[in-house]
Amino acid sequence: MAQVGIFGGSGLYQLLTGTVEERWIETPYGPPSDKVVLGELGGREVAFLPRHGRGHTIPPHKINYRANLWAMKALGVEAVIGPCAVGSLQKHIEPGHIVLCDQFVDRTTGRADTFFEGPIVTHVSAAEPYCPILRAHALAVCQRRGVAVHESGTMVVINGPRFSTKAESRWFTSMGWDIIGMTQYPEAYLARELELPYVNLSMVTDYDAGLVSDDGAAVTHEAVLEVFAANIENLRGLLVELVQSLPDTSASPARTALTGARLG
Ligand code: ADE
Repeated sequence: MAQVGIFGGSGLYQLLTGTVEERWIETPYGPPSDKVVLGELGGREVAFLPRHGRGHTIPPHKINYRANLWAMKALGVEAVIGPCAVGSLQKHIEPGHIVLCDQFVDRTTGRADTFFEGPIVTHVSAAEPYCPILRAHALAVCQRRGVAVHESGTMVVINGPRFSTKAESRWFTSMGWDIIGMTQYPEAYLARELELPYVNLSMVTDYDAGLVSDDGAAVTHEAVLEVFAANIENLRGLLVELVQSLPDTSASPARTALTGARLG
């Protein structure tokens, strides 16, 4: 069992201390992206799951998001933290900043994005898909640590694996959307279907197609990895403190997401 679940990528494997155990979790949706790493962080029991698999072998559109979330639920976590790399669509949101997403726009296609496939029909609200308690906590921790943080933001989630064209990027920017990524949908929403409070920590690695940057340079995968690696220590410190002082989430709206969501 674990108290907190963390999805993440490379650079975070060595995050956990204490007796570290790796375990495959069986789910009705097939295998998660990898074995879950169970250990300690900030005095709490934590489950860590690399969403792209160890060695980053699973592209965003092939991730088994349902299995990943199901595994966390099966381990009994009370909160899920989902850090990810994102591009910026607005000039004032700079590489190296953290955005605490409060909204997403789904531009993905063909992803399995619900646990409710019938015969019982369930409509879960996604109006406020992120846990406000965890988001306020993350903001306080970022501010305490002097991290450049945006307390809210809308992420447009594209299917990938390609990056956006300039025309797409121009459209996203003109819509007022803040950042762009490939994995928050359906990850954040599926947490809500399982009544798991979820918080996103978006690490800005680039200015998407280069439209709002000074040099006009479009994002490359190499640049994303480089900036992410340069900021990994900050992210690690942030995660430790977040988990250490994790607030009680029993009053989170996520905990009652299914109340009234289905007829009968
Ligand atoms: N992840 C990091 N940077 C990105 C970008 N510009 N577009 C989509 N996903 C990203």
